[in-house]
Amino acid sequence: MRVSATSFAVACTIGALTGTQAAPIGAVERVTFVDQVASRIPGTPDSWHVNFHGYVTVPAHSTPDPFLLTTLQVFAKTDEEKATLKERYGWFAVSGVEDAQLPVTIPASPSKAVTLPTKTDNTGLFDAAVNVSITGPTDKHGAITFKSQTLGQDQVGGMAYLVEPEGVSIISDIDDTIKITEVLDKVKVLKHTFLQPFEAVYGMPKLYTDLQTKLSALNKRPAFHYLSRSPWTLFGGLKDFTTAAGFPAGQFILRNLSLKDRSFFDFLVGGSSFKVDRIRDHISLFPNRTLIMIGDSGELDPESYGVIAREKPQLVSCIAIRAIQGQDAAVEKTKNSPERYQIAFDGVPKDKWFTFTDASKINVDEMAAGKCGPPAL
Ligand SMILES: *[C@@H]1O[C@H](CO)[C@@H](O)[C@H](O)[C@H]1NC(C)=O
Ligand SMILES: *[C@@H]1O[C@H](CO)[C@@H](O)[C@H](O)[C@H]1NC(C)=O
Ligand SMILES: *[C@@H]1O[C@H](CO)[C@@H](O)[C@H](O)[C@H]1NC(C)=O
Repeated sequence: MRVSATSFAVACTIGALTGTQAAPIGAVERVTFVDQVASRIPGTPDSWHVNFHGYVTVPAHSTPDPFLLTTLQVFAKTDEEKATLKERYGWFAVSGVEDAQLPVTIPASPSKAVTLPTKTDNTGLFDAAVNVSITGPTDKHGAITFKSQTLGQDQVGGMAYLVEPEGVSIISDIDDTIKITEVLDKVKVLKHTFLQPFEAVYGMPKLYTDLQTKLSALNKRPAFHYLSRSPWTLFGGLKDFTTAAGFPAGQFILRNLSLKDRSFFDFLVGGSSFKVDRIRDHISLFPNRTLIMIGDSGELDPESYGVIAREKPQLVSCIAIRAIQGQDAAVEKTKNSPERYQIAFDGVPKDKWFTFTDASKINVDEMAAGKCGPPAL
């Protein structure tokens, strides 16, 4: 096992790339499991295909990106902002550990312990699935928890939600859909990401908890999947945010970091098939689950969700797009224009998607019942 020269911090480089970095001697490895899902193995009473996705890292030796840090230090005015910057910048100051193979203990499984079949790559990433029997109780969110016992002392547990083959999957974007990020404004993105408390978009926690309650009452087994172009380094912060804001617990699907990703903004904006590919992954695991997809007009959610709705029309019950407002009037005019939606949802029936500005106006009963009516005025 060795520490990779790959700098995770490259991900937030705005200016020049920093060089490689060595980990401090004796640094403690940290295992971060990103919350995942398990799918039932057909025809078995208690066998599940459990996904494990995460990273093994050590603290980085040097400042990941001095230029970005200097910029952020200028923006940080109050003591609170300075403290937040210190904490959040630290999330990015890690290096990957290559060739680590994780033993994992799963208390809810009679086998108790498994070793993940693949080793970490040169960014510290592990991405593996194991078939195990699950007989123990799940937590109150329907998840099993696990731990990796051997690496370092810094043990953070992981979890996987047991998602049944039939039911409704709510695929939700994060930035500007549930969390205020103001993606259209680079300075505001930096402030929201590094300096300010994460803040929920008005009405969204209630929309999601109502949806969860109503779908559950209809025995439609809702599962939430938070899908974002943000780097995985934000996972802990985003999970804390969704929990504190009252969003239902769920899987997080975030971006891997790699040397190719030179700009922090590449993660949040810009064209990519990332979301389409990740939703296709979900569909291949859960080919019979219905999809409700929720996003916003700031990035490419309409286009991405439109692709899926054309590929799998029978699975998509509703697409809801939050029309962003108050960031950049000129850009928003184009982003929220009928012409844009016409192209994005070409071939998608008009009763399968709508846009909204105020989540509290959305008819949750209809959405839970499988309809997709536009919100009340
Ligand atoms: C695990 O289960 C999946 C789904 O049934 C199956 O496709 C795969 O071959 C199994 N893997 C192993 C190692 O048994
Ligand atoms: C999906 O439904 C079909 C038809 O009912 C069934 O044959 C298939 O096994 C189901 N797939 C899964 C993964 O449950
Ligand atoms: C991350 O990278 C791994 C390995 O290349 C890949 O299997 C996985 O799909 C990627 N995940 C995401 C969320 O991009």
